Amino acid sequence: MDNFDLTPLRVGIAGLGTVARGVLNILLTRKDEIARHAGRPITVARVANRTAYPEIDLGGARFSTSLSDLTDRGDVDVVVELIGGEDAALKLVTRSLSQGLSVVTANKALLARHGNALFEQARQQEGGVVLAFEAAVAGSIPIISSLTRSLVANDIEWLAGIINGTSNFILTAMAERGEAFEDALAEAQALGYAEADPTFDVEGIDAAHKLTLLAALAFDTAVDFDGVYTEGITGITPEDIGYADELGYRIRHLGIARRTGEGVEVRVHPTLISKESMLANVNGVMNAVLVMGHASGPILHCGAGAGELPTASSVVADLVAVARGDAVHVRTGGNHTPILDMHQVESACYLRIPCLDQPGVFARVATALSEHDISIEAAIQRESAIHSDSGVSWVPIVIVTHRVSEGVMDTAIEALQRVDAVIGDIKRLRVEHLS
Ligand code: HSE
Repeated sequence: MDNFDLTPLRVGIAGLGTVARGVLNILLTRKDEIARHAGRPITVARVANRTAYPEIDLGGARFSTSLSDLTDRGDVDVVVELIGGEDAALKLVTRSLSQGLSVVTANKALLARHGNALFEQARQQEGGVVLAFEAAVAGSIPIISSLTRSLVANDIEWLAGIINGTSNFILTAMAERGEAFEDALAEAQALGYAEADPTFDVEGIDAAHKLTLLAALAFDTAVDFDGVYTEGITGITPEDIGYADELGYRIRHLGIARRTGEGVEVRVHPTLISKESMLANVNGVMNAVLVMGHASGPILHCGAGAGELPTASSVVADLVAVARGDAVHVRTGGNHTPILDMHQVESACYLRIPCLDQPGVFARVATALSEHDISIEAAIQRESAIHSDSGVSWVPIVIVTHRVSEGVMDTAIEALQRVDAVIGDIKRLRVEHLS
């Protein structure tokens, strides 16, 4: 074969969890094809993990329980960090880069917190050291490659994604089967789609980690996890899903990053989107990222966002890029545009307002909104939704507004809560038209 280098790229894998097993599987079963793509063999030289699993075929790699064996023995060229978490992973990645070893990682939490320093450390190293992380965002989907290679001609206007499969599974189950959040979560856990402690997924933290990275790449800003507005799906009820449906929307948990004249919006929250939109039709554990480039127009990336082989597919793609010497050297923070505070962000809103079932109440609600210059696009008050508690008759008034800044909507909601016919907490969700 032309230009085939017989010197193997020697890989050291940290971790022996699901994704590591997928990486071993692909590297061992597709050895020859991968070598052809990479222009040289890619061999697993070492595996390090706290626990040994003798039943797993390591393809002749040396096993050790010490992570430092990956960096300090001189027989590894690239470290694949698949241990997750922050502290030990940070130590391993820093050590690897300082030893002149490239790193491939699936660790979004690590990069969301320490990405700026780690990308810079990789760039400062001599000898083409890279930190590659395709698997950190949306599993199998080549969204990092898309933003750092395929779409670089574009001024990215915005991107919006379903980047947490667990939350999408739960919202889809609630919509399709009318399940309560807790039941859909239990179903996700029984199927292995949600952790025993699902906090990171259902509170939006996992999606915020991923969006932090996508926003930095799309807008050349610094990685800034603390700047991301984060809201999960735990407050979504079947009632909200029903009203959204009646109004022509589905609820999806979206990560949205958008460039405006004032700065960059970076936010993760449940969002009403038109039933006809592409993202509204991404169901179950699937992920999707819609990117709007000024030249390309909208591009939908869609695929499995997690799992053994889907995530390993991205890890191996990074290894091939490292072997070829054409992995992208990421630099963040070239653009000093600020991340906007959430109160500066504008969106349409869905409000579910529990009100006494009395004449004139709707008019008072509409007046309170108009006093804040908020106009109503649609409203529902269902006869069938009238509740009677302890002799008090009340009904939710559901309103979709036109676009309004969060700051103005916060003040309007405070004013609405003071209306004496409003008898409980107002539910607010954002509505996006993504155009
Ligand atoms: N828990 C994540 C999800 C897995 O549900 O999408 C991949 O990050």
